[in-house]
This record gives sequence, C-alpha cells and structure tokens, in this order.
Amino acid sequence: MTKKLWGTRFSKKTNALADKFTSSIAFDKRLAKYDCLGSIAHAKMLSKQKIIPAKDAKLIINGLNAILKELKNGKFKFDLKAEDIHSNIQDVLFKKIGKAAFRLHTARSRNDQIALDIKMYVKEEIDNLSDLIVELQKAILKLAERNSRVIIPGYTHLQVAQCVLLAHHLLSYIEGLERDKSRLFDAKARADLMPLGACAFSGTGLNIDRNYVAKELGFKSATANSIDSVSDRDFVIEVLAALAILSVHLSRMAEDLILWSTKEFSFIDIDFSFCTGSSIMPHKKNPDILELIRGSVGKVQGNLSNILMLMKGLPSSYNRDMQLDKPPLFEAVDTVRDVLEIFVALFGNIVIEKEAIASRLADESLFSVDIVEYLIKKGISYREAHDIVGRMVRDCLDKGKKISDLSDKELKGYSQKLQPDVKKILNAWASVDLKNSLGGTSPKLVARQIESWSKKINA
Ligand code: ARG
Repeated sequence: MTKKLWGTRFSKKTNALADKFTSSIAFDKRLAKYDCLGSIAHAKMLSKQKIIPAKDAKLIINGLNAILKELKNGKFKFDLKAEDIHSNIQDVLFKKIGKAAFRLHTARSRNDQIALDIKMYVKEEIDNLSDLIVELQKAILKLAERNSRVIIPGYTHLQVAQCVLLAHHLLSYIEGLERDKSRLFDAKARADLMPLGACAFSGTGLNIDRNYVAKELGFKSATANSIDSVSDRDFVIEVLAALAILSVHLSRMAEDLILWSTKEFSFIDIDFSFCTGSSIMPHKKNPDILELIRGSVGKVQGNLSNILMLMKGLPSSYNRDMQLDKPPLFEAVDTVRDVLEIFVALFGNIVIEKEAIASRLADESLFSVDIVEYLIKKGISYREAHDIVGRMVRDCLDKGKKISDLSDKELKGYSQKLQPDVKKILNAWASVDLKNSLGGTSPKLVARQIESWSKKINA
C-alpha cells in the first residue's frame, strides 16, 4: 500500500473512514500523465540548480519516463488505496529507483503540484475541444454548402416571421461556436502561468528556477505570487463557464433540429442510425440523441455552479475543499466532448426536406416587412407603412384572401403608392434578395460568408 507522504508526525493511523473520505485517487488518477511530466521538469531543474545530485535526478527522470510508458500502454497499476495520484506515483517511483525518489519532492508541495497538474490538463483539453468545435463547424458548413439554395420560413417567438436562407441560419451556429472557441482560448491564456515552486504557499529558501520549469513545460511564464498560485482556481471556473455557454449553444441547436424533425415542421429528416424507437408505439422515430444533447447541458451548468459554490467561502491559499474541483471539471469536459463528437456525426446524417420546406413559403405573411419597406422606399413613413400593411394583412386574413389576389384597385385602396409591381416581391427569392444589408440573408452575402468561413475553418 502507498505510504502517506506526511505519516511520520502522526502517532496513530488514520481512521479507515477518514482515509476513504479524503482519498482522491479515484478521480485524480487521470492527471497521472501531467503529474509525471511536471515532476520530470522539476527534477531537471533541481539538478541544474545543484539542489539534488545529477545522478539522482537521472534516476528520477528515467523512473518517471518508465511510469509514463506504463500509463500509455495501460500497464500502470493505480493503487486505489493511495491518498492521491501524487502519493501513488511517488510510491511507485520509490519502488522502481529506491531512495533517490525521496529527493523529488524537494521545494514542492502537493498544493502547487495539483495546481500545475490541473492547469496542464486544462490546457490540453482546451486544444482537444477546440479541434472538435472546428469539426462541428465543418460539418455544419458542409450542410450549408450542400443546401445553399434552400430558403426556409424563419421564426421569432416560434411564430412564422420572414424568409431566410437555410445556410444563413446554419452559419449563425458557426458564429456562436467561434465565440465559444475564443472563450476557451481566453481561459487557456490565463491558465498558462506555471504555479510549481510556490510550494505550500509561501515559496522556498532553496535556489529554484521557476522560469526554467515554466519553459520546460511549455508555459508562457511562471506565476508571480506564491499565495495566488495555490489559491487560484479561476481557470477552472473560466473553463467551466466557457463550457456552460458552449453547451447552451449546443442545446439550442439540438432544440432547433428537434423541432425541425417533427411532422409539424418536416424541415429535416434525421437518419435512422441517429434516432430511436418506442417500445409501445410502433410508428415512432424519436430524436433521442438530440434530446440527450439538450439534456446534458444541465450537467455542465451544474458543474459550473458547483465550483462557484465550492470556492466562494474559502480563505486564501490552499484548502482541501479544492480537491473537489476535479470531478465537476472532468465531467463537464467529458460531457461536452461526447456531445461535440456525436453532433459532428449527426450533422452528416441530416437530410433537408426541400419540398416540404418550399410548400411553407406560400404563406404571404412572410413578406409583410418587404411590403413595408417597399412603401418606405416610396417616401411613406415607417409608422404609416406598418399601418397600411397591417390593415391589408388583417383584411386578407378575415376574407381568406392572399395579398397577391388583391386587385390593383384594392391595393390602391390601402395606399396610392401600392402599385401592381408590389406583387413582384411577394415571393421567397425576392424577399431574401432584398436583405442585402451587412450580415443579412441575401444569397450574395450568404455565399460570401460561406466562402470566408470555408477559408477560415479549413485553414
Ligand atoms: N488531492 C489534493 C487536491 O486535489 C492535492 C493537494 C493536497 N494537499 C494537501 N496539503 N493535503 O487538491
């Protein structure tokens, strides 16, 4: 069994319940790789600074490299009775190289060690997640490109509003995901300061070189304040906040697709391989994957609240409570990774139901704003134009008529400025063509957006 790093001062063995309650190995074992890499850099530095003998450093580094190899090929046996991953690795190292291992923990504490491990984990996972975000952006862009000539009725308040290009709608997802990526990179930049050497919280009297360790481990620089180094979990909160926002986006995308796949909408069909059935209703094809994507957001939001609550009342520097930051962080990262992966696959399996969508574009209320703008272009004030079209729409609804069925005389009855040519804009293509303001849904602008995203994403 792994020996306690602090046992000597204790006149009694810890209670078994206390051991079980305080142990973190069950979850922090996933930091093993970073713990070894951090220790290797630390040992190199201790040797360079002549704080430990070069031959012991060599033994330590070789031993840790052997452990890294075992971690990689799955041969490393975690001691689930160890207090934490630091103790476990320290103990295995001792078994491998003997007493030289005792020098490794010089000028270091588990307080700065764990801060380092989590920062390394966070930095790597942010890179992985952002790669996946790009994969998802690519999958969405592909769907947009393949369906660049599809117009859909757009909705606000979930009520039919105006025509937009489907591609325009899809590109809006890509915009949000891009912000998510940049939020993660912002968090990474602030996590990029190396805490090791802060020791328990006050630094050390030994002549260490923290900048060297920072450089060895690929950090921008070393942290500036030893208390802050072990006290700070802002970077965990920031990553979780970024993931919480990302998961809101993923959930809302899922909700769009769930709605669109209903019989009532029939905008899309999701491949059978990404749906499930009902045990009682034989006809059902349910969008469970999308529902679970929507549902999993709850976990990520909860994880963020968890850490905010965990940290809010702690006195400065290290407190053991902080051990509990890891399960919510890991769960959030795992959840978002799973969601991104399945979303990429699902997007490749969406069929756009062009005919069903086209049939919805006959609803002329979709063009009411276009008629208002037609009148504005003829010098009528916005307010008056809104009233004129409001009256027209109301009468048409009352009489079960279409605007395009109104005679020239009836049109003039609403406004002298309503000429027969207004009917030319009562169709979906004219409607989207008109929206040529910067960022609008006109096909020309959307084609340009597709092109610029394609360059950016595939770069
Ligand atoms: N398992 C601890 C954590 O995750 C490591 C640091 C423990 N430090 C201590 N002095 N007990 O935060």
